[in-house]
Amino acid sequence: MAAIDVKHLSHTYRGGFKALDDINLSFDAGVFGLLGPNGAGKSTLMRILCTLLEPTEGEVSVCGHDVMEDPMAVRSQLGYLPQEFGAWRSHRVEEVLDTLAQLSGMLDKPSRRQTVGEVLEAVGLGDVADRKVKKLSGGMLRRLGIAQTLIHGPKVIIVDEPTVGLDPEERIRFRNVLTNLGRDRTILLSTHIVADLGGACKAVALLDNGQIIFQGSPAELVQGAIGQVFQLSVSETELDDLEAKYDLVSTSIGSGSLVVRGISHEDELPPNAEVVEEPSLEESYMAFMAARGRSGAARQDEEHTDTEVA
Ligand SMILES: Nc1ncnc2c1ncn2[C@@H]1O[C@H](COP(=O)(O)OP(=O)(O)OP(=O)(O)O)[C@@H](O)[C@H]1O
Ligand SMILES: [Mg+2]
Repeated sequence: MAAIDVKHLSHTYRGGFKALDDINLSFDAGVFGLLGPNGAGKSTLMRILCTLLEPTEGEVSVCGHDVMEDPMAVRSQLGYLPQEFGAWRSHRVEEVLDTLAQLSGMLDKPSRRQTVGEVLEAVGLGDVADRKVKKLSGGMLRRLGIAQTLIHGPKVIIVDEPTVGLDPEERIRFRNVLTNLGRDRTILLSTHIVADLGGACKAVALLDNGQIIFQGSPAELVQGAIGQVFQLSVSETELDDLEAKYDLVSTSIGSGSLVVRGISHEDELPPNAEVVEEPSLEESYMAFMAARGRSGAARQDEEHTDTEVA
């Protein structure tokens, strides 16, 4: 029995917009990445898995429980960190978790204290247990978000866009926390900041316009992109020409010139460009989307296109 099992799932919103179209997915223990540009349907899929939205077609189960037939059983196995997570601002970190533990039915104080302590350690917030939530940094707040999903010992954790707005150091830290947690749980993570998945993921699924367009290991995604990613030194003026024709992934300043990395256009590289032998996951994702005519799909969040932070 897979921890998450999705068969022929489609979802049409009221008003007629089809946000998911015949999705088939299956996940066991480990970290899984759900990738896709804005509007691809990532949050819709996650909200269905969390029983917050009823699918219009297909079958979805979590730890063997159907989301439609037994939503309460699904919830007991599941922790969810939504795309927007806030609240509890004037409470202390420890209090937030203690209250949530009580709400999930842990009435024995000493064992609750122990669980809260363990969860705080797991996400690296042990040192700030008595700090007020409003005094946490953005990264700490996201980690508190993860902590709240863990309190009732769920087998499956669903995290929607966890790293938006975090600095590179916090993003790496967050990724490490998830990798550790993924050892004995299923973690489904959505993001359009591809670099954040790193090597932590066992498999990735690429969602575009409500359809799964790739499913496999990160290595397979990268393999498919070899030969499509180039590197080239250019001057400022050459850069404009290049940008008009190719999708550029990153630009860095070399000695006296700019070093750009980009994606081939219809299998053609710019003259004098070198092929990048080991493209990053992000570059591979861009190459994959470009091959489908979705040029620039990964670039809607300009702030995060620089692969140097990976
Ligand atoms: N309540 C709703 N009613 C109608 N359409 C909706 C509703 N919620 C989302 N949509 C549409 O469904 C599509 C998928 O939205 P969804 O939020 O699942 O995308 P996403 O992949 O999470 O995007 P993002 O990366 O921006 O978070 C979008 O076109 C969106 O406009
Ligand atoms: Mg979303």
